[in-house]
Amino acid sequence: MSHQFILFSFILFLSAFFLKLLYSSKRNNKSQNQSRHPPSPPGLPIIGHLHLLQPIIHQSFRDLSQRYGPLLFLKLGYARFVVASTPSLAKEILKINELTYSSRKMSTAINLVTYDNATFAFAPYDTYWKFIKKLSTTELLGNRTLGHFLPLRTSEIHEFIQNLTHKSEAREKVDLTEELLKLSNNIISKMMLSIKSSGSDDDDGQSEEARALVREVTQIFGEFNVSDFIGVFKNFDVQGFKKRAMNIHKRYDALLEKIISDREELRKKQKATEIEGVEDDDNEKVKDFLDILLDVSEDEDCEVQLTRNNIKSLILDYFTAATDTTAISVEWAIAEVFNNPRVMKRAQEEVDRVTGKQRLVCEADSPNLPYIHAIIKETMRLHPPITMIMRKGIEDCMVNGYMIPKGTVTCVNIWAMGRDPSIWENPMEFKPERFIEGEGSTIDIKGHHYELLPFGTGRRGCPGMPLAMRELPTIIGALAQCFEFNMFDSKGRILEQGKTIDMDERPGLTAPRANPLVCIPVARLNPTPFLLK
Ligand code: HEM
Repeated sequence: MSHQFILFSFILFLSAFFLKLLYSSKRNNKSQNQSRHPPSPPGLPIIGHLHLLQPIIHQSFRDLSQRYGPLLFLKLGYARFVVASTPSLAKEILKINELTYSSRKMSTAINLVTYDNATFAFAPYDTYWKFIKKLSTTELLGNRTLGHFLPLRTSEIHEFIQNLTHKSEAREKVDLTEELLKLSNNIISKMMLSIKSSGSDDDDGQSEEARALVREVTQIFGEFNVSDFIGVFKNFDVQGFKKRAMNIHKRYDALLEKIISDREELRKKQKATEIEGVEDDDNEKVKDFLDILLDVSEDEDCEVQLTRNNIKSLILDYFTAATDTTAISVEWAIAEVFNNPRVMKRAQEEVDRVTGKQRLVCEADSPNLPYIHAIIKETMRLHPPITMIMRKGIEDCMVNGYMIPKGTVTCVNIWAMGRDPSIWENPMEFKPERFIEGEGSTIDIKGHHYELLPFGTGRRGCPGMPLAMRELPTIIGALAQCFEFNMFDSKGRILEQGKTIDMDERPGLTAPRANPLVCIPVARLNPTPFLLK
């Protein structure tokens, strides 16, 4: 054998050896990923990564993701969490693996307050959920029902503007945060139960109690309960959480029981006299949600038998989901617009052009208010009222090459994506124009663009979006049309010309402002002649 042949064979052998090594190391990496969870900070025994969290959870998750990567694994006590912070990961979890991630995680508070398995918003993706989802989109929050309630929404918004006008005339301070909460709560209370949550004398205090309860529910759902995360505390009520949740549940139940039995009584009488509901302009009967739900529960042929607990729980779901989110969106929008007078001016010009300064802006104007819509998108990019889309995986699932075990809670951090400079140019600048010009003009908030998901996406996306998107342009448009604002700072001092208000957040299920928005409204025009009497 020649030397050349020996050398050639040796080189061939070496190449084959290295190629095999390379291939098997790649395969090992891949199979390691398949059994490994995504990157994760060092954790501690029992508590895992709980000690790394600050009170505002979405901010902590963003900070950790910046250090450890956009797909992050965390162990919070015994609960497994995965945090995703890019549009492509959001799509992989919420669209490509939608069925795996179509359930939510329950907590002690949710369980106790929402009648155990009777809830819709936290229900697993099952027959009951599908039935209520259909009922929500076709009946409760369908176009027809929303259309029927238009006069109600208009009258509430007019009353709100009238109230601010009086304050403006008297040069009185207004807590806009509080007033916006009342407005959104009044609208949903009337649509659901025909009660007004504030200011009516004829409901034995039911309305005030309803509003207080919504507050307490939103608060307790957003609070951290040690027993939900740390095994040794599972059967103890160290923070008095269960006690509080039970108290909320009992008061809510008493209130709803009374409202439902009164309604049943009324329905019996109405049936006897064959008079049903209030008649609207078209002589069609306007049924509120409670009537629709009682009709369904009385229908023996219905595919799902609605129990009384289902009805109560559903009303609670809607109360809590609709009140804060809508009010907070307007509040952040007004705060941002106040800090950016150029944006306020452009918004006012648009509304003035559409209304001819001859009437108050209304829902029908919505398609002609592209700049107001851009303000809403820009507000929701920076301040999504629900900061993370949280789902629970019902089976093992590969995400981005990593194995995410069954039962893990995935959080798509939409708040973090909205502020990510690799997604948005100058993300901290409030610039509605980014949704009017260039590429951004095609981005909508309906759940198809994974960089902007304020209402979530897919089957589990928000069923209240059509209602919210009727209310928001009208309320923001009316505020811009009627007033300028002299704002107060967080210490209660009136802000000097050119100064901006703080944009701090407070912890909670939703992401409210840390400090209420307090102002003296200064009327731009006298809206009184335009308001419903
Ligand atoms: C600006 C206003 C609102 C925002 C930003 C908002 C946002 C959201 C988000 C992000 C989710 C989770 C979606 C997901 O997991 O993909 C959600 C769920 C939900 N929202 Fe809204 N929402 C708003 C208003 C409303 C209103 C007005 C209602 C009812 C009248 C409502 C009822 C619900 C319900 C029942 C769910 C749970 C749906 C389910 O689990 O299947 N929301 N919302």
